Amino acid sequence: MKRMSVNTHNNTYDIFIKKGILHNVGSFIESFIKNKKVIIITDTNVNRLYGEYLMKNMRKYTSSIFKIVINAGEDSKSFDTLKQIYDKLLSFHVNRTDIIIAFGGGVVGDLAGFAASTYMRGIHFIQIPTTLLSQIDSSIGGKVAINHPKGKNLIGSFYHPKSVIIDPDLLDTLNNKFLYDGFGEVIKYSLIKDKYLYNTLIRINNKIDIFNHIEDIIYNCCKIKKDIVEKDEKDQGIRMLLNFGHTLGHAIEKYYAYKSYTHGEAIAIGMYNITKVSEDICITKKGTSKLILDILNKYNLPYDMPTNNIEKLFDFIRLDKKNSGTNINLVFIKEVGKGTLQQLDIKEFQKLLTVNLKG
Ligand SMILES: NC(=O)c1ccc[n+]([C@@H]2O[C@H](COP(=O)([O-])OP(=O)(O)OC[C@H]3O[C@@H](n4cnc5c(N)ncnc54)[C@H](O)[C@@H]3O)[C@@H](O)[C@H]2O)c1
Repeated sequence: MKRMSVNTHNNTYDIFIKKGILHNVGSFIESFIKNKKVIIITDTNVNRLYGEYLMKNMRKYTSSIFKIVINAGEDSKSFDTLKQIYDKLLSFHVNRTDIIIAFGGGVVGDLAGFAASTYMRGIHFIQIPTTLLSQIDSSIGGKVAINHPKGKNLIGSFYHPKSVIIDPDLLDTLNNKFLYDGFGEVIKYSLIKDKYLYNTLIRINNKIDIFNHIEDIIYNCCKIKKDIVEKDEKDQGIRMLLNFGHTLGHAIEKYYAYKSYTHGEAIAIGMYNITKVSEDICITKKGTSKLILDILNKYNLPYDMPTNNIEKLFDFIRLDKKNSGTNINLVFIKEVGKGTLQQLDIKEFQKLLTVNLKG
């Protein structure tokens, strides 16, 4: 079993990573659930596969267990679903000493975490993430949120779980689309911080190989995120490194109204194209974009810019809340494993990208 603890300003919590840990998950969180009211929040898919199993496991530690099942999918990160959760928590007479378990992917984690952070001014919650993306990214770091009709994750807070329990075996049932989507973020970690992880990933040849290495891969990603979050919990400095590929990626997701590209695919395109630009202006060692292309190919991720309409993409980029004046904060890599933050004039960035795409 792999274990690490996350130490932020006001919180400390443990992350446990182990294949099959779901079988005795209760023993790892006993102190939080014993004789408490436990409310499992999950989605329809995860519930169908593992819901009853988790309930059964919890029954060894408490007789008071409830389950709230939301519809699977991003649409559930909404005010409507949040209200349904509050209504159910009230009808179960949940109080501040009870605990929520978020059991699902990033959608469940963000929504249940936000509900936990606001219900009665905050009750404890535990993350049991079930997708690759949620196991390496969204369950750690304390960002919880719902979407607003005007944009994703606009309503949210920073609120840490009491513990994160990661069972890589749960990924067996995840379809390939979501598995490779998660690899977009795994690759990002390797590019900004961990050349060794890149070298491991590039040597993997098939899905069996992936599952042979998955515990280490997840551990390395969690460790990178934990180290960064501990230094910059509120996203004011070094945590921005985690946005490598995201400026272009978010613009691509918005340009296609979140329909054509998954998040992992969009940031894959973002990472490759921004690195071509940074090679042109000598921020990045020549040949690095080729190394990115090689690894994206391996994990079935796209890399070509899907549109020449750079003007329209920049309409979205200009709206990014991380801009300051005419400058934009960008993440580049100097070489594989070495991320760096730099500001660039937005117009200059647009010109460089346009020239690069024509060339
Ligand atoms: N809080 C953060 O720091 C942070 C970071 C990154 C992403 N996010 C958020 O995460 C969300 C995306 O998360 P996601 O990619 O996990 O999507 P998701 O939660 O929608 O899960 C993807 C799909 O996989 C299914 N699923 C989940 N676990 C499964 C399993 N073990 N077997 C079979 N099917 C399973 C789900 O039902 C769903 O259909 C977005 O809303 C994004 O904004 C948050």
